[in-house]
Amino acid sequence: MTRRFAGGSLVIATHNPGKAREIAELLALFAAEVTTAGALGLDEPEETGATFAENARIKALAAAKDSGLPALADDSGLEVRALGGRPGVRSARLAGPAKDFALAMRQIEDKLKGSLDRSANFICALALAWPDGYCETFEGRVDGVLVWPPRGTRGFGYDPVFVAHGHALTFGEMAPEDKHALSHRACAFRKLVAACFEPAL
Ligand code: IMP
Repeated sequence: MTRRFAGGSLVIATHNPGKAREIAELLALFAAEVTTAGALGLDEPEETGATFAENARIKALAAAKDSGLPALADDSGLEVRALGGRPGVRSARLAGPAKDFALAMRQIEDKLKGSLDRSANFICALALAWPDGYCETFEGRVDGVLVWPPRGTRGFGYDPVFVAHGHALTFGEMAPEDKHALSHRACAFRKLVAACFEPAL
């Protein structure tokens, strides 16, 4: 049986403020105290995995071991069908050391010039790890299309160019609660909660 989170402190194993904010919002009902790997000054492990799930495990296990607390990590990214699934696990790296996502979105658009297929999806793998090395992973996905030019200033990363199927607004234009209702992160989160969490009433 899957191990359940017993309440108390939980480390969000990310140095990405956009992800930390979304995970804290999604976790609001479940964890009494949430802190981040960034706030604790934990090192960022190298993401050497070939898949989102492997990288999420690496980050969650490192943060749980270093903090002595249960840790939740997210590894996620954008897969563009006409680019053979790239940038995928390299989605963050495309923005360079300055984390310039205007540049990253432009690079993808330049590569897509001439392609009629604008299909893309986000994937999110969540890993929940304990200091003793136990770890569970859960994956979520949302499908949509890429638009150009970017629209909206909400969210983070590639949100301004992604429109989920059945919607008109980009993730960058949506209210956070609307993105949370359909995002890849929310989808993975629902699976995590069903397996490992009980609401703190
Ligand atoms: P990593 O998981 O830290 O390797 O980084 C994932 C990267 O994927 C982020 O830096 C964003 O560029 C992108 N990404 C993941 N989730 C989202 C999302 O919800 N919206 C927009 N971009 C995202």
